Amino acid sequence: MGIAFESLSSDIAGRNGRLTVGKKTVKTPALLPVINPHLPLITPKELQEMGVEALITNAYIISQSTQFRKKALVEGLHRVLGFDGVIMTDSGSFQLSVYGQVSVTNTETLSFQQDIKSDIWVPLDIPTSPVSDRNKTKQELAITMQRLREAKEVFGDDAPIAGPVQGGIFEDLREQAGREVTSLGFSFCPIGAVVPLLESYRYRDLVSVVMAAKRTLSPSACIHLFGAGHPSMFALASAMGCDLFDSAAYALYAKDGRYLTVHGSYRISELIELPCACAVCRTHTPEELRSAPDRERLLALHNLYVTLAEIARIRQAISDGTLWELVDERCRGHPQLLSGYRALLGHGIELESHDRVSKRRFFYRGNESCNRTEVLRYRQMLGRLPVGKDLLIAFDGGERNAFDTTLLFKPPFGPYLKELKETFPIGPSEIPEWDEAMVREGCKGIRILQKTHPESRITVCCSPRWEPVVREVLGDIGVTHDPS
Ligand code: GUN
Ligand code: ZN
Repeated sequence: MGIAFESLSSDIAGRNGRLTVGKKTVKTPALLPVINPHLPLITPKELQEMGVEALITNAYIISQSTQFRKKALVEGLHRVLGFDGVIMTDSGSFQLSVYGQVSVTNTETLSFQQDIKSDIWVPLDIPTSPVSDRNKTKQELAITMQRLREAKEVFGDDAPIAGPVQGGIFEDLREQAGREVTSLGFSFCPIGAVVPLLESYRYRDLVSVVMAAKRTLSPSACIHLFGAGHPSMFALASAMGCDLFDSAAYALYAKDGRYLTVHGSYRISELIELPCACAVCRTHTPEELRSAPDRERLLALHNLYVTLAEIARIRQAISDGTLWELVDERCRGHPQLLSGYRALLGHGIELESHDRVSKRRFFYRGNESCNRTEVLRYRQMLGRLPVGKDLLIAFDGGERNAFDTTLLFKPPFGPYLKELKETFPIGPSEIPEWDEAMVREGCKGIRILQKTHPESRITVCCSPRWEPVVREVLGDIGVTHDPS
C-alpha cells in the first residue's frame, strides 16, 4: 500500500510523473475534479470516460449525509460514486476554514476515510488565513504538525495519508512545514491554504509560498496544490513542481454562469462567440447555451474540457521542454499572473538546479526571457570556455586573424564557440531582431569571461548601435566596429 511517485520527464521544476496508490496509477500533472456527491453535475462515470484517473470528494460531507454515510461505510466510496479510479477524500479542513468549526476530530475523520475505503486520506489540517499574523500562523502550524504526527502513529507509515504543508504567507514557516512533513515520511504533500491567495489574484505570494515549501520537501514527493482550479495558472504552478490540482472551479463557475478559458473567464451573458473547440461550444450558439435548460451542466462540461486540455498541453510542454514558453503565454493573460511569472523568474538559480539539460527549443519572447533558467545556466558554464590571450568577440560572426580566439555572440546568452553553434541552447534558440535587453544580458556573459580570464585581452567587435550597451556593461573594453 502507501503512496509512491516517480518523475518520468521534467522541465524547469515541473515533471511528468506517475502517482501510484495501491494498485492504481495516475498520470501527472493531473486535475482531480471535485465531486459533490449530492449534486454531481457531471457524473464520476462520465469523468472516467473523459480520461479522469482521480477525483476528490469531501469525507466530511459524506459523514454528515443521511443519504450516503451508511452506504459508503457498507459498500465503500467507489461503489457509492460509481468510480473505480483513485478517490482522494478531504477531511473537514476546508469547512473548518470557512465555518470556523467542524464536529470531528483528526483520528475520527481519518478512521472514517479508511472505513469508506478512500484511496488517499487527508488529516484535519488547519488552513491558516493569509491575514493571520506570524504568531497565530505558528500556533496553527504546530497543531497541524501534531495531527500529522498522530496520523502516522495511529495508522502506521504505510497508510495512504497526505501530509499537508501549511504556514500561511510566511516563507520560513512554509520551509519549516516542508521539512517536518518530509521527516515524518509523507510522500504525498498538498500545499494548503492557497485558495484565498488565488481568489484575490495574489500570484506573487503564491510563488513565494510554493517555492518555500518546495525548497524543503523531498523532490520525490508528489505535490498537490490544494483548491487550485483555474486553468490560467496551471502552467505557472507546474513550473514550480506542482503535480496535482483539484478543483470545484469548473462547477462553481458554471453555477455562476461563467465560462472558463486559459486566459481568464467570461460571463456567458457577455459572449457573442464561443471561442473553444470542445463539443459543447461547437454544437451550441451562445444564445442556445444561455437558454438551455441544462445550461449549468453544459457550462460545467465546457469548463472541464478546457481545464483537462490545459493539463494535456502542460504534459506535452514538459515532454518537449517548452514549459517556459507556455508559462510566458499564460502569464500574459492577467497583470497579476505576470507579476507571479516575474517572481518565479526571480528564483532562477533555484529552478536552474532542477531544469533539464537540453530542450526542443528556446523562443525569445521579450525581456522576461532574459531571466530564464537556460540563460543562467549558460552563463554558469561560460567561465570554462577555453580562450587564448587575445580574444575577439565578434557580434557580426566574422573571424579576424589577429586574435588567438574568436567567439561569436548570441543574445541573451552571450559569447559562444563556433563548435557550439548547433548545440542547446545556442542552436535551437530563436530570437527576433536584437533588442537592448537581450544584448545587455549577453554582455553579462562577456563580463564573466573578463572575471574568469583576467590574463586575456578582450575586444568586442560590434556595430555602433550596440557600443553604448557594451560599454555600459563592460566598462572600458576594447571595441572595434564591424563594417555594417
Ligand atoms: N482545500 C483547499 N485548501 C485546503 C487546505 O489547506 N487543507 C485542506 N485539507 N483542504 C483544502
Ligand atoms: Zn468549449
